[in-house]
Amino acid sequence: MDFCLFCLSFLLFFNFPTLHALPPNIVLILADDYGFHDIGYHNNGFIKTPNLDGLASAGVKLENYYVQPICTPTRSQLMSGKYQIHTGLQHGIIRPAQPNCLPLNDPTLADKLSDAGYETHVIGKWHLGFYKRPCWPTNRGFKSFFGYLNGGEDYYTHNLALQFISQRWHGLDFRDNLEPAANYSGIYSTHVFAQRAQQVIEQHDQQKPLFLYLPFQAVHSPLEVPEKYIEPYKSIVDKNRRIYAGMTTCLDEAVGNITGSLKKTGLWNNTVLIFSTDNGGQVIAGGNNWPLRGWKGSLWEGGIHGVGFVSSPLLPDDVQGTINRELIHVSDWYPTLVEGIAGWTLKGTKLDGYNVWQTISQGISSPRTELLHNIDPLGAPLQPKPPLTLEPPIPSCNFTFPSKFNVSTRAAIRYKDWKLITGNPGLGYWIPPPESGLQPVIPVVPEGKCVWLFNIKDDPYEVYDLSDEQGNVVKDLLDKLYEYQQGAVPVHYPDQDPRANPALHNNVWDSWE
Ligand SMILES: *[C@@H]1O[C@H](CO)[C@@H](O)[C@H](O)[C@H]1NC(C)=O
Ligand SMILES: *[C@@H]1O[C@H](CO)[C@@H](O)[C@H](O)[C@H]1NC(C)=O
Ligand SMILES: *[C@@H]1O[C@H](CO)[C@@H](O)[C@H](O)[C@H]1NC(C)=O
Repeated sequence: MDFCLFCLSFLLFFNFPTLHALPPNIVLILADDYGFHDIGYHNNGFIKTPNLDGLASAGVKLENYYVQPICTPTRSQLMSGKYQIHTGLQHGIIRPAQPNCLPLNDPTLADKLSDAGYETHVIGKWHLGFYKRPCWPTNRGFKSFFGYLNGGEDYYTHNLALQFISQRWHGLDFRDNLEPAANYSGIYSTHVFAQRAQQVIEQHDQQKPLFLYLPFQAVHSPLEVPEKYIEPYKSIVDKNRRIYAGMTTCLDEAVGNITGSLKKTGLWNNTVLIFSTDNGGQVIAGGNNWPLRGWKGSLWEGGIHGVGFVSSPLLPDDVQGTINRELIHVSDWYPTLVEGIAGWTLKGTKLDGYNVWQTISQGISSPRTELLHNIDPLGAPLQPKPPLTLEPPIPSCNFTFPSKFNVSTRAAIRYKDWKLITGNPGLGYWIPPPESGLQPVIPVVPEGKCVWLFNIKDDPYEVYDLSDEQGNVVKDLLDKLYEYQQGAVPVHYPDQDPRANPALHNNVWDSWE
């Protein structure tokens, strides 16, 4: 009886949308490799992002917001609501020829929002695997897909070329749903994606709520943008920085065009817009994370402390225009969107994310006090060499501590204000933006060092390592890491498969199983 009463109230609440206003539309914009320093409101407007700044200052800026250090990991947590230790994607990205994808057994964020009645579209970069069709976005909860499957490519030709052992592989990676779309060659991807997003918005059936996921190619390398966007930055001497600034302004213009369409169609007044980077900026490709330490790929704050904000006319007046300093993580969007915004159920879904909608919309404390940044038993992925004279230190770990956690393992965890890092965290320089005229600061790392402890609230730039003074905190956090590790699934990082060669698929990147 009780059960059926529950069913009834459940059905009444969720299945008769005509009795209720539609749940909000959700537009989730993910910029690629967008540095912490590189949004107007973090750099005094040096890089011009008027549309993003306007949306952020009318919304809630997330200033204690975390993502993962690289592409696939962030996207996997966004789509699954789970830490990488629970999907097997702990190590690195999914490489073009790797037969790997986000595990198929659990519903994605898009599956859940589809169940909740949303029209779901993804426009841009997928990077969650494509070696067989079940991995493709249109089989992971999206009604439509327009974009590319790999992690990066040329912005104009939409071709991805790479060296595979002794072979040169190249192929088109651009799709309109399942079909290769060769006729966008020569058109810059930020324009293509913005235009398609505007089209989806304009053609949207307003009887249904919209979920539009926009993982832009910008501002990832290669450094390419139409010349006119570089014009305002002629005075930047550093070439990479100059082009990157132009790419950023173009992305900003795209966001302006998209919000323009939302307003024109009347959708905006029932829309929540979320903007996030996928990881820290890539310093050798124009990005910058100053004053944070480290960069893309590292477990230092520069790799994972992301730029992000939420903007919506639905936010109460008293949070509009505020800065939120509660701990929020990219894995939190799944439950926040499904339960917090869409009002749908998460029953039966096992997640690592928290519903932080009240934290964002009402400013209450975050339910998240702990954050596993990652445990990667395979160690540091290869990092690009910085244009600097010294290589990152590779610790030959000689730390001993009464914990079962092996501290040579690359890992990091946050608990309240504490952050513990073990193993090789990646490059830990403080790198100011080239326009500042300041020189990078290269820390002296003692031989054999592989454990660091910081109080991130007091020391957001990770200057004062407290691991010697705070032995109890170190031990507690190592024990927590050990516990997480006990619940981890094995890393799935298969060998690359020569059958992925686009030459075998009409010079198009396609599934091969
Ligand atoms: C590309 O071709 C598709 C399918 O014919 C068409 O809908 C689309 O408008 C074309 N786009 C461009 C930019 O030519
Ligand atoms: C934004 O819209 C304007 C006007 O249609 C267009 O000229 C411009 O190329 C668009 N920009 C982007 C990035 O889509
Ligand atoms: C939202 O916009 C639509 C169309 O312009 C309008 O009919 C509706 O009243 C607006 N709703 C609110 C809450 O302002």
